[in-house]
Amino acid sequence: MSSNHEPPEEKPESTSSSDSDLTSVSQLDSVSEQSTEIEATLPDSKQLNTETKTGTISKLLNDEKSDCSEISDKVKEKLMPVPESSYRDSSSTSLGNIQFTTKRPRKVEPSIISSPEILNTSMNVETARYSQLESNNTTTQTTKPTATYATSISKLSSAQNSTPNIKNKPLARLFSEYNDAHEGEQSRFVENYKTMIQLHYKMFDLDYIESKATFMGTLIPSTMLTKHFTNLYEQKVTKIKLIPSPLFIDYEEDYDINFENIDKRFNPMLEIGKIIEYTYLIFLPERFKSNFERNIITPLNLSYDNLNKEDFIRIVSLHNETLRKIPRKEILSQLKNIKSIPQSFIHDFLQCVYSRIVTPRANDLKHYEAFSNNVYGELLPKFLSDVFMQCNLNSNSIFIDLGSGVGNCVVQAALEYGCKLSFGCEIMKNASTLTELQQVELENRCKLFGIRLQAIDFSLRTSFVNNEKVSTLLKKCDVVLVNNFLFDSDLNKQVENTLKDLKIGCKVISLKNLRPSGYTIDFFNIESILNRLKIEQFKLNEDCVSWTHKGGEYYISTVLEDFDETLFDPSRRHRKTRRPSKYSR
Ligand SMILES: C[S@@+](CC[C@H](N)C(=O)[O-])C[C@H]1O[C@@H](n2cnc3c(N)ncnc32)[C@H](O)[C@@H]1O
Repeated sequence: MSSNHEPPEEKPESTSSSDSDLTSVSQLDSVSEQSTEIEATLPDSKQLNTETKTGTISKLLNDEKSDCSEISDKVKEKLMPVPESSYRDSSSTSLGNIQFTTKRPRKVEPSIISSPEILNTSMNVETARYSQLESNNTTTQTTKPTATYATSISKLSSAQNSTPNIKNKPLARLFSEYNDAHEGEQSRFVENYKTMIQLHYKMFDLDYIESKATFMGTLIPSTMLTKHFTNLYEQKVTKIKLIPSPLFIDYEEDYDINFENIDKRFNPMLEIGKIIEYTYLIFLPERFKSNFERNIITPLNLSYDNLNKEDFIRIVSLHNETLRKIPRKEILSQLKNIKSIPQSFIHDFLQCVYSRIVTPRANDLKHYEAFSNNVYGELLPKFLSDVFMQCNLNSNSIFIDLGSGVGNCVVQAALEYGCKLSFGCEIMKNASTLTELQQVELENRCKLFGIRLQAIDFSLRTSFVNNEKVSTLLKKCDVVLVNNFLFDSDLNKQVENTLKDLKIGCKVISLKNLRPSGYTIDFFNIESILNRLKIEQFKLNEDCVSWTHKGGEYYISTVLEDFDETLFDPSRRHRKTRRPSKYSR
């Protein structure tokens, strides 16, 4: 897998702009202090210190030059900057005397090719890019957006770390998928930020927010993770503070910033970027948005893409300053009227919890007997969002996960769909412990963001087979999940028995057909629930599960009042009934 180190972006244009653009950070601070009432105009990022920026840029340019010396003339030619007209958009922001354009030049990024980290760890990307260069004509060669490429690699690398199922997917392929999906968009930390979901329940607990002025919970700070993962922890780390929630500005989370040694499993800068973007997308009152975007979101993305630690840190503190000045009551009325949120918020929020609890202890989940029923694997958040929707999960539903692992599916059903009750049963000790830890962290993080977490319950360190609590709940349940992909036939038989009292209309999501192939009704199974299931098979897309990036199929079975008619369809019945009888004399 590639390192998250990212090569510098193309040389930003120097501006001919006047010195009036130059204002020091201290000036910015004093301006902030003086302002008694916050206006819709937020502090401008052009006031950021420019000296470091200039130094960094010249360093980047030098690096770029020397690194490019190995590149063939033919390739160099194709790396030439392209005309202004091919820039993606026209908005720009100024940081001191350097004009930082958010326009994305459509050219290939030389430093990507020369980045040692990328070269060492993802040769497939480089090969793919070179072959692309060779095969395309000049016009199309120059259409690869520089910054998007840089951003994509870095952000995809992080995605690879946090999403186990795409670990083995060639980075070049991920990149091209990412680029296709994001064509024409600005660089953003939040992926697919335009994909919104309607809120399925009153997600924000306004009474709670109004009643609490300070955050009382205890959270696991991100620094615990950086410490855990980074071998060279003591070196080159800068400690910074982020106000993650605009609702509780008294709470600051510690982060270790290090652009030089980004660990594959946890990238604090990426998490910060996402949190800040969600503040913008969800919590920020409308009148602050355009300035926040111009002065914080865009420069933060640029500083990340340019590996510019100094600017990144300054923009985070500018963000903190800004949040301190936004009237809380305006955020509250923003939340009062909110109807939809980006779907990725749910996934990233859960990832925040997962990365603090499960990621550092992932090895604990490997303590199972090979090929046993306890082989561990996870359904991934996007797939869950979709399949829950398909099953019409909602705030009146009871959801049960039989074999709930570390509790991911249960907490997502609660957080995203606000189910009346989300319940899980898990037999493995380690997975059960991680479930409990995830639940505590989730509850606290929800408080920090004013999220009303609906009822969650588990039956842990015990089997769902002959489990009274499970049996009682199953009778009222609306959606059952059983990730039975690796369950043996005995356990699948036990699942059948466990599900026997499901109510009519209940839906069962499974990865293997609950009715084994060749199943027919006979005298012995006439009472089985399997006869009353309408079973639909669906295509499981790629990247839906943690154990492989390949697709497959999944099933949704709906409990019917009566027998499933298809069981009487001779063409679907056992082979022997379809064979024409042969008579001989
Ligand atoms: C493939 S994992 C699925 C985890 C989670 N439901 C998901 O889809 O992300 C299957 C889980 O079922 C658990 N399991 C297997 N047999 C079980 C049983 N009889 N009772 C409860 N849990 C069981 C395993 O320990 C494992 O954690």
